[in-house]
Amino acid sequence: MNVFLGVDIGTAGIKALAVNEAGKVEWSAARPLSMMTPHPAWAEQDPEAWWEGVTAILREIPDDFKVERIGLSGQMHTLVPLDASGCVVRNAILWCDQRTQAECEYATRELGGEESVVGYTGNPIYPGFTMPKILWIRNNEPENYRRIKTCLIAKDFIAWKLTGEFGAEPSDAAGSAMFDVANARWNERLLEILDIDKNFLPPIRGSYQVRGRLRRELVFSDSLKDTEVVSGGADNAVAALGLGIYRPGDCMISIGTSGTALAVTESKIPDKTGKLHFFNHVVPDTSYYMGVMLAAAASQNWFKDKMGPDLSWARIEDGIEDTAIGADGLLWLPYLQGERTPHRNPNARGVLFGLSAMTDEMRVFRAVMEGVTFGLRDSYELLKKMTEIKRVIVVGGGAKSHVWRKMLAANMKIAIDVPSIDEGGAYGAAMLAALGGGMSLREVASWAKTDSVIEPDEKDYEPYDAVYEQFGKLYKDLVNRFDAVAKLCSG
Ligand code: XUL
Repeated sequence: MNVFLGVDIGTAGIKALAVNEAGKVEWSAARPLSMMTPHPAWAEQDPEAWWEGVTAILREIPDDFKVERIGLSGQMHTLVPLDASGCVVRNAILWCDQRTQAECEYATRELGGEESVVGYTGNPIYPGFTMPKILWIRNNEPENYRRIKTCLIAKDFIAWKLTGEFGAEPSDAAGSAMFDVANARWNERLLEILDIDKNFLPPIRGSYQVRGRLRRELVFSDSLKDTEVVSGGADNAVAALGLGIYRPGDCMISIGTSGTALAVTESKIPDKTGKLHFFNHVVPDTSYYMGVMLAAAASQNWFKDKMGPDLSWARIEDGIEDTAIGADGLLWLPYLQGERTPHRNPNARGVLFGLSAMTDEMRVFRAVMEGVTFGLRDSYELLKKMTEIKRVIVVGGGAKSHVWRKMLAANMKIAIDVPSIDEGGAYGAAMLAALGGGMSLREVASWAKTDSVIEPDEKDYEPYDAVYEQFGKLYKDLVNRFDAVAKLCSG
């Protein structure tokens, strides 16, 4: 059977799906990954551990498959520095690593301030982005810096190991802080100003352009004979394609550990406030705006671990449904990890406000679900200001909850589609593999089907609007306090 293999290089693990020519998932495999935290707020992984996982999966491909092409998806922003012989210079520094605040400030200053930076690339420089990590190595590990010859992002490292060809593509380059999103090319002027060698960066190819043939020594069985590899793309963009989210007006809301709200656009205009990311999609000449919240389902999981480890999710769902909107005055600010969108505030913290003698665990669970929904609504409201939204689809672990879907529909005031296949980046990566062989976008996107549609309940609009307003005001009331307490903690 002919299949396309989609491989996602995630943070918690590697996931692979073999998909047939009609879009049916025929086989899957996974390998867990761990993350190193050598200092608080640092996050690293050994790229060779990703590679071991990928090769182990390739060895397991069933004999009756013929893998036509491999497509990739991967964690964004994560830097893999290589030396002249292609060896990894140091551990990869991940998207969620926060060590580069000083480098972000330096680069922003050198480039003429934040507005000017957004003019160069389409985005402000966030600590998790790739370029400030290169500067961090230059400032803190000069020995390592001298050895660097090539800088790759996670899935580009795997594409190189698979084919022996260096390359990058727009959807991941967009999150590097070195790429001009509107014109889809590296920004050489920016590299010059920051004195970063432009030869560090590989050529840009299309996300479903064939990068090369699988290296001979990786053809572990006949299933992998003559297999090609396409470039792949950034996990958020590839996951969106996997759900058929690629036309202007399409919006994807994802409730995973982190939460994202993304809207596809033809516009070339970045969000000048810098609150929303502006990145290239894996489909040419298409971009998306995206808001990212750092603790979405993570908030709900944290409370369950602390308050109800023995409660089933089904019981929690029933409990939330039986509790009134607003949880009788209880509000949750979901900033366990600080927040990216809309506040860009690493000092923000989780706050449970309004406890009373009548508060019980189910009211807390409702408040937490509402707080995360309001965080996503913050991003959604910003998206609506930048581009028209015609269709919303919801995915991720949290989206399995019917109560949560209804809450989102009433807050966004729009019908919400639930997809029949919700497999994250690996499924979209298999689509990229199919596109690389010449299948049309329309044909491949038709693999993505809707399972059900959640209509918003109009009677819930007003009560949610009232609580959402208080949620926004509570953050404003506390923002100075967050900074003061952070200062206290740092010393
Ligand atoms: C997006 C981001 C995360 C990673 C997760 O900007 O940082 O969603 O892509 O892999």
